[in-house]
Amino acid sequence: MSLLEVRDVTVRFGGLTALSEVSVAVEPGTVHGIIGPNGAGKTTLFNVVCGFTRPASGSLLVRGVELRDHRPHHLARLGIARTLQGLGLFAHSSVLDNVLVGADRHASMGVWGSLIGRGEEAALRARAMAALESLGVAEWASALPGALPYGLRKRVALARALVAEPDLLMLDEPAAGLSEVEREELVALIRGLPMAVVLVEHHMDLVMSVCDRITVLNFGRVIATGSPEAVRADPDVAEAYLGAAS
Ligand SMILES: Nc1ncnc2c1ncn2[C@@H]1O[C@H](COP(=O)(O)OP(=O)(O)OP(=O)(O)O)[C@@H](O)[C@H]1O
Ligand SMILES: [Mg+2]
Repeated sequence: MSLLEVRDVTVRFGGLTALSEVSVAVEPGTVHGIIGPNGAGKTTLFNVVCGFTRPASGSLLVRGVELRDHRPHHLARLGIARTLQGLGLFAHSSVLDNVLVGADRHASMGVWGSLIGRGEEAALRARAMAALESLGVAEWASALPGALPYGLRKRVALARALVAEPDLLMLDEPAAGLSEVEREELVALIRGLPMAVVLVEHHMDLVMSVCDRITVLNFGRVIATGSPEAVRADPDVAEAYLGAAS
């Protein structure tokens, strides 16, 4: 059974069809890339999964169960975490407190549900610190995000998503604004993650090196889906990218 299934989803903005009967299946533990030229519908698809955008038709299934009235605040209990394009960090809260915001799934249920009071607080802090450590930014825990270079702030945003230990991590253009070295570090990091990842990304090289499967969108339609090798060799994909570049 797929962890996430997008089934025949159509999204319209007025007269514009941003997604047209798009289907994508994401398997547990895999990295699934969503690529396509500008305006192809990548962010729209991301927003549908995150509950920001309501499709005109089609359905979403998580672990085989169809979602009804899907909203952004349902994501945590579905075991889905996301980072957004940009950072979304609170400027006046410490790095550690920013990461703690992501831990509330555990605070209210699951592993941490049986813990109470100060013990719970301490355990959550330990989790958040562990997430920061795993991304190499623990030394910045008490700093304000603004004190960190952009690449490190991106890691803090990622730590916040990881601290909830989601089964699915949704990343929209995580490499935007990163240097080449930082991009390579990100590839290694994503490869090492235990959960499934949906990666919306412009950088073809990053997508090709990190993804198990790739879905290619063009003008709101799926034009190819398969392994990186298959997608790279697909003439429709080459044409879509060449057409967009000219
Ligand atoms: N809120 C909106 N209202 C109207 N049109 C929208 C809205 N959001 C997106 N669109 C349009 O829908 C289409 C798909 O946009 P989307 O942002 O999903 O593309 P994308 O693949 O993420 O592009 P990019 O690579 O530039 O990020 C575009 O034509 C865009 O102009
Ligand atoms: Mg986009």
